[in-house]
Amino acid sequence: MNIIEAKDVSVTFESFGQEIKAVDHVDFFLPEGQTVGIVGESGSGKSTFARVLSGLQLPTSGSVTYLGNPIQVGKQTYPGKLRKDVQMVFQDPYGSLNPRMRIVKAIAEAIRQHQDLDKKSAIEAGVRLLESMGISGDDAYKYPRSLSGGQRQRASVARALSAQPRLLIADEPTSAIDQSAQSQLLGLFNNLIKEGLSIVLVSHDLSVIRYLSDYVYVMKDGVFVESGKTEDIFNNPKEEYTKKLIASIPGRKL
Ligand SMILES: Nc1ncnc2c1ncn2[C@@H]1O[C@H](COP(=O)(O)OP(=O)(O)OP(=O)(O)O)[C@@H](O)[C@H]1O
Ligand SMILES: [Mg+2]
Repeated sequence: MNIIEAKDVSVTFESFGQEIKAVDHVDFFLPEGQTVGIVGESGSGKSTFARVLSGLQLPTSGSVTYLGNPIQVGKQTYPGKLRKDVQMVFQDPYGSLNPRMRIVKAIAEAIRQHQDLDKKSAIEAGVRLLESMGISGDDAYKYPRSLSGGQRQRASVARALSAQPRLLIADEPTSAIDQSAQSQLLGLFNNLIKEGLSIVLVSHDLSVIRYLSDYVYVMKDGVFVESGKTEDIFNNPKEEYTKKLIASIPGRKL
């Protein structure tokens, strides 16, 4: 069963009287319990497509189904209980963190929306979740603006995970964090994958994609130019564009 599927999805933006086809008639699917990576150069449409999957951006045409059902009902997406099932980590972590709330409180509140816990237990659960992401002690009680960029990014991953989603859509979740925090996050993702979480992962870092993903979609100018099993894409890329992306990985041996 595909947890999420996109059929013939397009997104067109108007900018200074010009039409921008950010996403141009794409098909996409992710079997439940698997991880799919989306790669491509800057501006190729990755974030726009991720936002369509998460229901935040309505497509200009085409449709998205979640477990076989359309995510859009009227102008609404993921109605009712489905809302918590699908969580997104934004490329800009400010997008998902309330600036007026200490992060552990925001996370505790999100936990309480989905689990029957008293406030104290929810804070404790929040502290544990943040600790597993390498944010501990006083840092857990800071406001988003007082965290480093990397901590903010990890806090927004924690915020998304606190809802115990079935599908996580993560847009560049490792871009602002250093190597050790990255290893920690990858380990955490790996455990969640083992527990059955499905992930759509957008990343510039092809080694992260290769490590976590079962499938890879390669995006260029709003189109998927190539897709397939991760090892096939990395070992035997067909498109020149994909070969260049793989070759441009700085200082990494793949
Ligand atoms: N709200 C918007 N209004 C107008 N144009 C937009 C809007 N959002 C995105 N675009 C344009 O759509 C195209 C795709 O943008 P998108 O953010 O999806 O790219 P991306 O692949 O995520 O890039 P990056 O790797 O830099 O994050 C770009 O040309 C961008 O300028
Ligand atoms: Mg982006």
